[in-house]
Amino acid sequence: MAFGIYIHYPYCLQQCSYCDFATALHKNLDHDNDYIRCLIKEIELRAGNLAPASITSIYFGGGTPSLMQTKHILDVFKALEKQGFKKSADCEVTIEINPDTISGPKLDELLKAGINRFSVGVQTFNDEHLRLVGRKHSSSDTLKTLDLLSSKRVNFSVDLLFALPNQKITDVSSDLEKLLSFKPNHFSPYILTLPKNHLLQKNRPIDAIQIEMLTMVHESLRSHGFEQYEISNFSKPGFHSRHNLNAWLGHGYWGLGMSAHSYLKHGDWGVRFWNPPTVLAYQKQLNESVSLPFENLPKNQVEILQKHEALTDYNHTHLRLKKGIVWTDLKNVFGEQVLKLVKSSLEQEKLQNLVDVTTSGAKLNERGIQLSNLVFSEVTFLKEDLP
Ligand SMILES: C[S@@+](CC[C@H](N)C(=O)[O-])C[C@H]1O[C@@H](n2cnc3c(N)ncnc32)[C@H](O)[C@@H]1O
Ligand code: SF4
Repeated sequence: MAFGIYIHYPYCLQQCSYCDFATALHKNLDHDNDYIRCLIKEIELRAGNLAPASITSIYFGGGTPSLMQTKHILDVFKALEKQGFKKSADCEVTIEINPDTISGPKLDELLKAGINRFSVGVQTFNDEHLRLVGRKHSSSDTLKTLDLLSSKRVNFSVDLLFALPNQKITDVSSDLEKLLSFKPNHFSPYILTLPKNHLLQKNRPIDAIQIEMLTMVHESLRSHGFEQYEISNFSKPGFHSRHNLNAWLGHGYWGLGMSAHSYLKHGDWGVRFWNPPTVLAYQKQLNESVSLPFENLPKNQVEILQKHEALTDYNHTHLRLKKGIVWTDLKNVFGEQVLKLVKSSLEQEKLQNLVDVTTSGAKLNERGIQLSNLVFSEVTFLKEDLP
């Protein structure tokens, strides 16, 4: 059975104005030592709440986890192992890296520590666009990082961010071409998502151009042998992110660190719980606890799922995936009546050009991927909706 561990490292060299992730400014190494102490305490306090399991994937996300010292990464592994959570022989261990934060010796250290997958936040190679969105790294930093990863022949993924202010479709195709020349195994292209009144909304490409950019990126990746296994994720055969895929397929995962979310099989429909959203609040909770069973968490940090919530999650995560929803699988989990309800929701006229419904299941088509939120809202259910 797949079981993943997510470790959140929130610190970054900058706080990008467009970023909606839980981050904090990296000032010195003292806060690092404190934060790692908390991660280890969290492992010790919560381990008793989970059945010891073989870990099939570990994901260091951020923030900028490539700022973590390798000895701290090893400390986390040791703490997990001490509590009965050992890595499986083929455990996938990913770390997100920012272009300006990794050297040859650091990469060697990480490989020796057991990291076997790297996810690089490239965003764009255009220095003008990088500066406009407030990134500190330059395209030459990114090129050095990608050269390093290719020369060591490590397994790496790249993030491309587009629909940036002043960006043209030719800028995106030039970024894409450069990235493809490094032959990554995995690609995550994202349209920049911003609140309505954000300063970076000025001079962004209009919606129709954004869709054109998205279609161009998707078609180009497919023509280069990438499989779109999820809305925003493409991989060469066999190189999908096992960690993310397992989470989307509803397998359990344990999230460690500030704001990290967990999902565990529990009761009939599973449980979700999450950590406080700031470093200070996270540290305070750990310092004041002698154990951390999710049953004792404040109400705003835990949700024992009911059937309608589990069904909504199931629909959303499965529709994100290339395989989509398979009717027999859905029926096995939720029963015949619920199957009829989901089928009729997806067969309604307004979703006709967005979802391909067949006798075996349902999938988003290209237009459905572009308008996925509209589809998701039609398969979001309240308690009273269920038969
Ligand atoms: C958790 S972030 C961390 C990556 C790394 N710290 C960096 O910024 O390069 C993962 C990815 O999310 C994407 N991302 C961040 N903010 C976004 C936004 N507002 N809209 C769309 N994608 C975003 C970026 O492509 C980024 O590489
Ligand atoms: S470096 Fe990455 S995680 Fe940090 S603030 Fe910028 S986008 Fe967010």
